[in-house]
Parts: sequence; structure tokens; C-alpha cells
Amino acid sequence: MKKSEVVSHIFHGHIPKTAKHEKGLGYAPTNIALCKYWGKRDTELNLPHTSSLSIALPDKGSMTTLTLNDKSSETIILNDKEIALDSVFAQRTKAFLDLFRANQKWYLKININMNIPVAAGLASSASGFASLVCALNDLFDWKLHKNDLSILARLGSGSAARSLWTGFVEWHAGVRPDGMDSFGEPLAFEWPELCVGILTMSSDEKPISSREAMQTTVNSSLLYNSWPRKVSQDLSIIKQALQVKNFALLAGTAESNALAMHATMLSSWPPICYFLPETIAAMHKVWDARKQGLQLYFTEDAGPNLKLLFLKEDTARVQALFPEVEIIRLFDQV
Ligand code: PMV
Repeated sequence: MKKSEVVSHIFHGHIPKTAKHEKGLGYAPTNIALCKYWGKRDTELNLPHTSSLSIALPDKGSMTTLTLNDKSSETIILNDKEIALDSVFAQRTKAFLDLFRANQKWYLKININMNIPVAAGLASSASGFASLVCALNDLFDWKLHKNDLSILARLGSGSAARSLWTGFVEWHAGVRPDGMDSFGEPLAFEWPELCVGILTMSSDEKPISSREAMQTTVNSSLLYNSWPRKVSQDLSIIKQALQVKNFALLAGTAESNALAMHATMLSSWPPICYFLPETIAAMHKVWDARKQGLQLYFTEDAGPNLKLLFLKEDTARVQALFPEVEIIRLFDQV
């Protein structure tokens, strides 16, 4: 099935043609998966093999502002700089807009402000596509349900399906070939004492996209066969840990899940390794600190940067260990 068929299904064959407001605005936070999405059952629709679960970083994300352009092409401004229309970023954005344009002749001026590095494994595409979908929903007054917005965001980038909400979000893998049952669902847990700290080793664009890395893993990793079982166990343990607020269980499971994901990549051919020497050094520092009794864990996505997981009461000890850590607010702290 094609992406355009999913879009047509959501709009019952009638995609609105006219902008209803002068401006469309959309903000979406980035999200960090505690139980990862790695591998697609449908590469066209970004349908995952497994469900996944994330926590949003509410102040880290993308703000998209849309207005109609008077030129017969898009203008894309990312963090106050105009982007070349033949760049990968512009081409992906344009291809996504084409899904809603069909044969209509509107073009947009797209202003995106992101306060996270682009394509460095910090889920910039998740917040980017989710904010673009929200801004389109506003400009054209689609009035779509959030489940549908989540499905549309997924067509841009898989993990964007989870970026429509703050807090903990589960993205259901679904079983339908059209993916109409594969969208995010906010989970009613709050955990104001939970902290995430970003350890940036490199803000450079990743050497291999998550799209390509996932495909290589699915096609060549011997370990990938055991990934769905690992995810289904971790997902239920994480939900149980959220229920009883067991931090060591939550964060330990998240760390183990991330390492298992990276193990599937390392066992792919050609091998995929997002670790830098600094990443491994930081992991050892975390493990040593844990041996000394500090409740400190990490997770890592498709990039060399680590996201530390710890409790608010340990903030000073974590900062002493990693003075460069950027601590992110997750909930309205009490
Ligand atoms: O949505 P994508 O294609 O950028 O893939 C995201 C993959 C991971 O960040 C590694 C895991 C996840 O669940 O976010």
C-alpha cells in the first residue's frame, strides 16, 4: 500500500484544498524511547515489527510555522537559515507535503525552529514531522483526531508517531497492512522525580540514517530474530515499573533494551556501530558509578550520544560525574 492511499483513507478521499488560517502553527516535543523501535514490517508506511514506548522531552522539540508561499515552490527555513531545495532535508519535507497536495497547486513557506541538533540521534525528525503535521492541521483546519495525526506523522518518520504527546507514550505496532491501528497512545503515568540528562559526544549528522541501518539489521542480523521477544518482555516490564514507580527496574530495562538494539546492529553486515570511543568511555563511567551505589542508567539511539536516566535526588552526584550533562525537564516538577 502507498502512503498516498493512507492519506486518502484518512480524509475519506477529500483532502482539504484551502488554507483556513493565515498561518498554521505546530509544536511537537522530541521523544526518547525507553523500549526502542528498530525494524519495519512495511518500509513504505514505516510500520514497525514491534511496539515501543517513549518519554517526551517537552522543552526540546520543533516549532513549525506555515504560510502560503507566493512562489511556485516551497521555501524552507530551518533555524533562520534558508535550506537548499535539493538537500535531503528539503526533499523529504517536499515529498511529505506532496502526499497532501495531490494535484493541487499550493506551496508553503515553512519555518522550522528546532532546539536539538538535526539527525544526530536526538529524534529531530520525530519532532520535526510531528510539528509539521500539527501545523498543517492548523493551517487547513483538518480537525483530525490525534490518532490520525500520529499515523500521518509516522508516514514522515516512524518515531514521530510518538511525538504528538508529552509524558510516556506507547506506539502500538498494529497488525493491519494499512497501519490504521499503528499509532501512539499517551500513558497516564507521571513521574516528576524522573530525570533525563543528555550527554552529547557529537552533534554531527549520523554517518548512516536510521532508515538504512534498520533495513540492514532486519536483512542481515542473526540476532534480529530474538529482538521481538526482547521487546515484548521489556515493554511489559517497563509498564509494570511505571505502575509501581520502580526506578531501577524501569531504567535498567531501558538500558538493556538499548544495548540489545545496538547488539543487533553490531551483528549486521556490513556492521553498524554508532558508538564513538567517548560513548563507550561514558558507559563505563555509568557502570562504575552504579557499582558505587549511584542509581544511574543510560539509553542510546541511532547516534553516539547517551541519554542518562536518574532520579532528581541524585542530580548533584550526576553533575559531579558528568559536568557537561544537559538536564531536561520531563514533567512540571514538584
Ligand atoms: O523514526 P526513526 O526512523 O528516526 O527511527 C528511530 C529509531 C530509534 O531512535 C533508534 C529508536 C526509537 O524508538 O526512537
